[in-house]
Amino acid sequence: GAMPLKISVIGLGYLGATHAAAMAELGFEVIGLDVVPSKVEDLSRGVSPVYEPGLEEILQRHVAGLPGSTGRLSFTTSPQEVAAAADVHFICVNTPQRAGEYACDMTYFDSAVEALAPHLDRPALVVGKSTVPVGSAARLARRIAELAPAGEDAELAWNPEFLQEGFAVRDTLHPDRIVIGVTSERSEALLREVYATPLAEGSPLVVTDLPTAELVKTAANAFLATKISFINAMAEVCEVADGDVVKLAEALGHDERIGRKFLRSGIGFGGGCLPKDLRAFFARAGELGASEALQFLREVDSLNMRRRASMVELAREALGGSLLGRRIAVLGAAFKPETDDVRDSPALNIAGQLHLQGAEVSVYDPKAVENARAVFPTLRYTDSAVEAARGAHVVLHLTEWREFQELDPAALGEVVTTRHILDGRNTLDASLWRKADWTYRALGRPTA
Ligand code: UDX
Repeated sequence: GAMPLKISVIGLGYLGATHAAAMAELGFEVIGLDVVPSKVEDLSRGVSPVYEPGLEEILQRHVAGLPGSTGRLSFTTSPQEVAAAADVHFICVNTPQRAGEYACDMTYFDSAVEALAPHLDRPALVVGKSTVPVGSAARLARRIAELAPAGEDAELAWNPEFLQEGFAVRDTLHPDRIVIGVTSERSEALLREVYATPLAEGSPLVVTDLPTAELVKTAANAFLATKISFINAMAEVCEVADGDVVKLAEALGHDERIGRKFLRSGIGFGGGCLPKDLRAFFARAGELGASEALQFLREVDSLNMRRRASMVELAREALGGSLLGRRIAVLGAAFKPETDDVRDSPALNIAGQLHLQGAEVSVYDPKAVENARAVFPTLRYTDSAVEAARGAHVVLHLTEWREFQELDPAALGEVVTTRHILDGRNTLDASLWRKADWTYRALGRPTA
């Protein structure tokens, strides 16, 4: 058939690095761009900028210049080079929360477009993947046509990404759906070609306009956040009614209309997406004059933040009313297991609050210690759960890494001062800990 498409990926964080590697794995020639030279250097050696299971293996298979690689994947800091090399440009830069407000910061996205578009001198498709406020795509499409020498032949499409950290490679190669927002048949055909393999393997495709494609992503994240805050609200009710939120969630989950996923109560959601996307969504709805429609999302957000405070209070209660000088072991720093990401991590936030209120906090995480230290250098970090627990008056389980589920309560009981464990994720086996003479407590569950 025709020559395979050449693809560029702009912005090489979680999303971009994974997307670039996955596109090379699917057989395309890929060039990745980032403005941070050290990222480009690392990736050019096959080293991933983030911990993501399976990602480095794929990089090693394709990065040009590595022994035995296909050579299909290369990296640069030059937008000119990218424009010359590729026909389809995926923009994957981050769109964080603006400092001091809820709205989304489009600076990185806008500057990626400003840097690339002036070099687009032949038909090209720019594809937005980042999560953005609805309406951004239409604005950017106009801007690209304005800046590009190719004019209207430099088009924009929107293709939101739903990957979950820790499963980024799987989710990119085998997405549970592909959503494309397009304004022309040509763009649709190009994107169908890019995703021919997953489409052939049965991933459903939804073709839509630009604003709907932007909204699918924010709506999906808002729904997931709402589901988690719903069960956490039920935990607050269980707390005052002597109910057990874990049993409640189990029973609710058997109703297929509700489903059991994203119904685990605990210290709430965090990470680089859910919290900030939620806030950007209601901020944007306000700008558009629809703030009433998303009023409930503000409640979803405050319920979620309250979980962290409740965990700090549970720790204080476990320590008899004061945190001052008490030794606390914190198991987990990442915002969830299988990642080294600590952005808006409930675990690290709680550890930090306890520390600031006078406790001596020791934190252990299998992968995230380095990132945690960068954010919160004054906490004490250890190399193992046992080291963190040594001498502790209370142990907090805050990120549900598998190795914590497999901890031996008897062995850990040997090193602590007081056998008191607080389960912030409701994943430990309470009866096992109680059998080994621990006091086990969790939010929204009866005392014993
Ligand atoms: C999320 C979305 O799932 C993904 O589709 C989107 O593309 C990006 O945002 P991610 O941030 O990787 O992905 O994490 P996710 O697995 O969704 O977990 C988010 C947070 O919710 C974590 O802090 C997790 O611990 C918490 N969570 C999840 C719960 O508290 N309870 C649950 O039942 C599920």
